[in-house]
Amino acid sequence: MSDYLLEVNNLCKRFPIKGGLFGREVGHVNAVNNVSFKIKRGETLGLVGESGCGKTTLGRSVLRLIEPTSGEIIFNGENIVNYDKNKMRELRRKMQIIFQDPYASLNPRMTVGNILAEPMEIHGLNTDKAARKKRLLELLDQVQLPSDALNKYPHEFSGGQRQRVCIARALAVEPEFIICDEPVSALDVSVQAQVVNLLMDLQKDLGLTYLFIAHDLKVVEYISSRVAVMYLGNMVEVAESSELYGNAKHPYTKALFSAIPKPDPNLNKERIILEGDIPSPMNPPSGCHFHPRCWLASDECRSSYPNSTNQSETHQYKCHNPL
Ligand SMILES: Nc1ncnc2c1ncn2[C@@H]1O[C@H](COP(=O)(O)OP(=O)(O)O)[C@@H](O)[C@H]1O
Ligand SMILES: [Mg+2]
Repeated sequence: MSDYLLEVNNLCKRFPIKGGLFGREVGHVNAVNNVSFKIKRGETLGLVGESGCGKTTLGRSVLRLIEPTSGEIIFNGENIVNYDKNKMRELRRKMQIIFQDPYASLNPRMTVGNILAEPMEIHGLNTDKAARKKRLLELLDQVQLPSDALNKYPHEFSGGQRQRVCIARALAVEPEFIICDEPVSALDVSVQAQVVNLLMDLQKDLGLTYLFIAHDLKVVEYISSRVAVMYLGNMVEVAESSELYGNAKHPYTKALFSAIPKPDPNLNKERIILEGDIPSPMNPPSGCHFHPRCWLASDECRSSYPNSTNQSETHQYKCHNPL
C-alpha cells in the first residue's frame, strides 16, 4: 500500500461562460489548471490562496461533486475519474466534505438525529435500530455535543455547534478523507480555535486525512503539515508550512506569508504589499499569471508559464525567477 491516500495529477476544471440571448458560450474560466499534488495517509494538506483562485472548485472536483475536465485522481491506488455512478456512490463513503456555512448545509426541517442518520441510511450502515441509536450518541460524543441534541433542530444551536453537527454528519459514514472547505471562516474567532482543535483531535483518534482549505494563513499553519498555494487556478508552490514561512521560492507565496502578523515584534519581518488586483480568471495574463504583480518579473515570465521545479522532495514551485 502506498503512503499516499490521494494523488492528483494534472487536474483541470474549465467552466463555460454563457452569454447573450441564446446562451451561447462566450468564453471560459480555467478555474483549476493542471494541478498536481499528493496527500499522505493521516496528513493534513492546507490549501490557501485569494478568493476566487479555485480552491473550492479543486476540492469539489477531487470528490467529483463537479466533473473535472481532465486529469487523474488516484484514491487508494485507483484512478476514480472514470468510476461510474454506482462505484462513485460507494466511494463517497470514504471521502466527505465539510462546508464553510454550517447553516446553509443543514436542512432546517430535520432534527439533528435525522440529519446524522441520513448518510447511514444511504449507505446501509447501522440498520438495526439499537445500533443506530448507539452510533448516533457516539457521533455526538465525538464532536462534543450533548446527547439531547438528537431531537433538536439546527436553528437551536450556535454557529460553532452547527459546524460540529456537520462534522458529525461527515463522520457518520466512517470516512478516510475529509475536505474541509473553509470550515471555520464563518465562525466567531473565539469559536474557531475550538473547532480546529476538534478537527485535529478527530484526525488523531480516527486516522483521518484532510485537505484543509482556508484563507486564514494562521489557521492553516496551525493545522497543516504541508501547505499548497494557489493563484488564479494554478498551484504555484507546495511545501512544509515552516518551509513556506522561512524559505518560500515563489514571490506570491512570500507576499502572502509576509502579511501575517508575528507575535514577536522584534522579528522585524519585511512586509510585502502586492500592487494591483487579482486579474480576471476569464482573461488571465500571458505567461506566468502572477507577472503583472511580481517585482521580479522578466521577459520570460511574460511569455511562458513556468514548469514545476523540485526544491526538495517535499517542496515544489512554479517560477522562472525564484527567491
Ligand atoms: N459553476 C461555475 N460556473 C462558472 N464559473 C465558476 C463556477 N464555480 C466557480 N467558478 C469560477 O471559478 C473560479 C474559482 O472559484 P472558486 O473555486 O469558488 O474559488 P475559491 O474557492 O478559491 O474562492 C472563480 O473565477 C469563479 O467565478
Ligand atoms: Mg471557496
